[in-house]
Amino acid sequence: MFTNEEQAGVYKAIFNRRDIRSFLPDPISKDTLYKILEAGHHAPSVGFMQPWSFIVVSNPDIKERLAWAADKERRALAVHYEGEKENKFLSLKVEGLKEAPYTICVTCDPTRGGSHVLGRNSIPETDILSTACAIQNMWLAACAEGLAMGWVSFYKKNDIRDILEIPPHVEPVALMSIGYTDQYPDKPILETAKWEKRRSMDDLIFLDKWGEK
Ligand SMILES: Cc1cc2nc3c(=O)[nH]c(=O)nc-3n(C[C@H](O)[C@H](O)[C@H](O)COP(=O)(O)O)c2cc1C
Repeated sequence: MFTNEEQAGVYKAIFNRRDIRSFLPDPISKDTLYKILEAGHHAPSVGFMQPWSFIVVSNPDIKERLAWAADKERRALAVHYEGEKENKFLSLKVEGLKEAPYTICVTCDPTRGGSHVLGRNSIPETDILSTACAIQNMWLAACAEGLAMGWVSFYKKNDIRDILEIPPHVEPVALMSIGYTDQYPDKPILETAKWEKRRSMDDLIFLDKWGEK
């Protein structure tokens, strides 16, 4: 059983967690970093396959190369927008990959556990979903530790495989920058920038059948 205070702590992490792009150079203790990775490793996974690995990057040259790969992709994606929307897209987020003391590449190995992982035969992408659960656990743990994280998924997977020497069958699912920040907003950055807003819960909840209220 959770005490009321413990329950409040869980919800506080869920509601306060934000995607952060701006990091201070202050170091993170190895113990804290380990606790956050351990939170990731305790996520649920299909058939308990635990498909994740964590590449903890602190080398500035490697971080620079990761930032290059993300920036190249961001500029390529800008072609999907025109005029003002393009400028807004390009100015929206400045990646924190170089500034954050660590960037953790979270990977997914679809071959882990062999070819008959319990429950994965019907929905193969459950391995990636399991990895996303690990990432969310890390994000919440980081928030509870007073740390900020930013999820970068703008990159070509093969660029990241080349830079981090990841084998071809392993998926680089996310680059998670982590560090302390002095800019922890209370709303998503994309909401403040008027790019998107949070949808109304009422429109998302149905009773018994799709569309029924
Ligand atoms: C799967 C996934 C991929 C994401 N990729 C990026 C990304 O490449 N660049 C970025 O700036 N934010 C990225 N984000 C962060 C989202 O923009 C952010 O979660 C969303 O705007 C809501 O804000 P919040 O996390 O502060 O609540 C990603 C988030 C998720 C869950």
